[in-house]
Formats: sequence, C-alpha cells, structure tokens
Amino acid sequence: MNNAEANLALEHYLKSRVSEIEEALPKTLPADWVFPNNLKESMMYSLMAGGKRLRPVFVLVACESLGGNVQSAMPVACAVEMIHTYSLVHDDLPAMDNDDYRRGKLTNHKVHGEAMAILAGDGLLTHAFYSVTQATRQYGVPADIMLTVAEELSYYSGVIGMVGGQAADMLGEQGVTSIQQLEYIHLHKTSDLIVFSLRAGARIGGANEQQIAALTEFGRKLGLAFQIQDDILDIIGDEALLGKQKGSDEKSGKVTYPYFIGLDASKAEVARLTQEAKSAVLEANLPYPDRLLELADYLMNRVY
Ligand code: IPE
Ligand code: IPE
Ligand code: MG
Ligand code: MG
Ligand code: MG
Repeated sequence: MNNAEANLALEHYLKSRVSEIEEALPKTLPADWVFPNNLKESMMYSLMAGGKRLRPVFVLVACESLGGNVQSAMPVACAVEMIHTYSLVHDDLPAMDNDDYRRGKLTNHKVHGEAMAILAGDGLLTHAFYSVTQATRQYGVPADIMLTVAEELSYYSGVIGMVGGQAADMLGEQGVTSIQQLEYIHLHKTSDLIVFSLRAGARIGGANEQQIAALTEFGRKLGLAFQIQDDILDIIGDEALLGKQKGSDEKSGKVTYPYFIGLDASKAEVARLTQEAKSAVLEANLPYPDRLLELADYLMNRVY
C-alpha cells in the first residue's frame, strides 16, 4: 500500500468506528428514564453535533491493539466522549472562552441558555460514570478492571487532570511566562483525556503494566502535539472545516505555543512530539500497533 492508499484505508476505518460510536452514544441513556426534555435536548444537542470522536476512537483502537473485544470497550468510549463534550460546553461559556460556534453549530448556551448549558454539562459528566459501569453490567468486563477504569476516569478528567488544566488555563491568561507552565496546562487540559482513553481501552484489552506505561507516554506526547495543532489552527485554520471561529485564543488573551515560539517552530514541535509518541508505541510490544501509529500521523496532518 502506498501512502495515499494507507490514508484512505485509515479514513474508511475511522468512518466506520465513528458511526458505531454515534450509534452507541444516544443508547447510553436508558429509554425509560423520564427527566426534563429541555435538559435532554441540550445534552443531545452537543453530544450528537459531530466532532472527530478522537477520544472514543482511541479507547477502541487501544483495545484492538491488544487484540481485545472492542464492543466491550464501547461503554467507556461513550463515557470519555461525554466528559469531553461536557468540557467543551463549559469551555465555550461566557465565563470561560465565550465562543459562539462549536462543531459547526451555535454553542450550547447560545441555543439553550446558560443555565441549561451548565446543567447539560453536569448531566453528561455524571452520566459518563453510569456508562462506565455498563461495561461490566452488559458485557461482563471484570469488575476489578472497571473499578480501575472508573478511578482513572475521575483522576484524568478531574482536579488533578482536565479540570485542573482548564483552571490553570483560565488563571494563566496573559500571565503564562514559560513553556513549562504552558506544557503543564496542555498536559492536563488536553493530554489527560487522551491518556485515559488509551489506558482504559488497553486495560479492557488485557494490557500489562509495561504496555499501559508505553501507551501513557504515547498519549502524553500526542496530546501535547494535538493542543499545539489546535492553537495553530486557531490562527491559520479554515473556520468552515473547524466548525468553530478562529482567533479565540487571541481574543481571550491566551498564551500559546505559536505566541511563544512562532508558527513554524510550533509546526516543527508538533512533528517532533508525534515522532516521540510513535517511538513510545513501538516500544510497547503491542500485538497490533499499526492503527495507533497511523492515527498519530493522521492527527499531525489534520486541518480540523
Ligand atoms: C477540542 O477538541 C478541544 C481540545 C482539547 C483542543 P477536539 O478538537 O477533539 O474537538 P471535537 O471533539 O473534534 O469537536
Ligand atoms: C479546550 O482547549 C480544552 C478543553 C475543553 C478541555 P481550547 O479552549 O483551546 O479548545 P477549543 O479551541 O475551544 O476547542
Ligand atoms: Mg479553553
Ligand atoms: Mg475554547
Ligand atoms: Mg483552541
């Protein structure tokens, strides 16, 4: 297979994984649960708005890289997408980045109001942990594995993880003076959910601790590259493709890699981090590492 053929094969693979994920997401809400319709609509508005579904794809691909049962990882894939979506709904609020477009649509609070946007985020966050339990309830994944997955979902998405990173990002506006501070923000606001996704999928696939550690390193590096690319696209991206308005970082006075070291050096940093991420995967002794390696290259070249 040449490069173009390999890329087409990956895109085909991603399309089919994304459609499985999008079929599973609404089904995580039991049909007989009765609760305010506005809340449900607000949650579904953002959850089903599209997006790359990168984190749930990583759960499934990590599981597959171990030769595990991919379907049994689906409840966790849905859980991390719910946490990610909630983080975006809150990230866009006037008190945070104050943005008007997300995933090609008006932001949640623009349509459903701030109160319902906050509550939709709360609802998605809480429901993610319900979804995690369903890996045991519906697919018989051993409860001790899912106990660790639940623990890590709280760890990587909470105060020591994504929420902590978002807090540092808000506190740091214009006050970030070193690359080290910026790296701390990126590792937590962005890498941590990717790291969680890889660890959880791998655990369900039966990974050993050495493989988990290597995938953690892969996720850390890839997350850093992903956020630098996000910040590059915030300057030079195509709004129609991105589904969000450019210039958000400058508007809110965010200090980013392009701000610190310029666009060209930032692009070089994305390439360097992607290479390091791939090296970590190659050292993991995974039975089927290829999709992970392909995904790393695919993300480096992404334009949305
Ligand atoms: C946006 O994440 C927020 C960041 C951490 C950079 P994505 O770029 O994965 O957003 P969606 O899920 O595709 O909308
Ligand atoms: C958001 O980073 C990270 C999280 C939501 C955890 P950004 O604020 O850069 O994301 P976008 O650019 O709004 O998608
Ligand atoms: Mg933000
Ligand atoms: Mg933002
Ligand atoms: Mg951004």
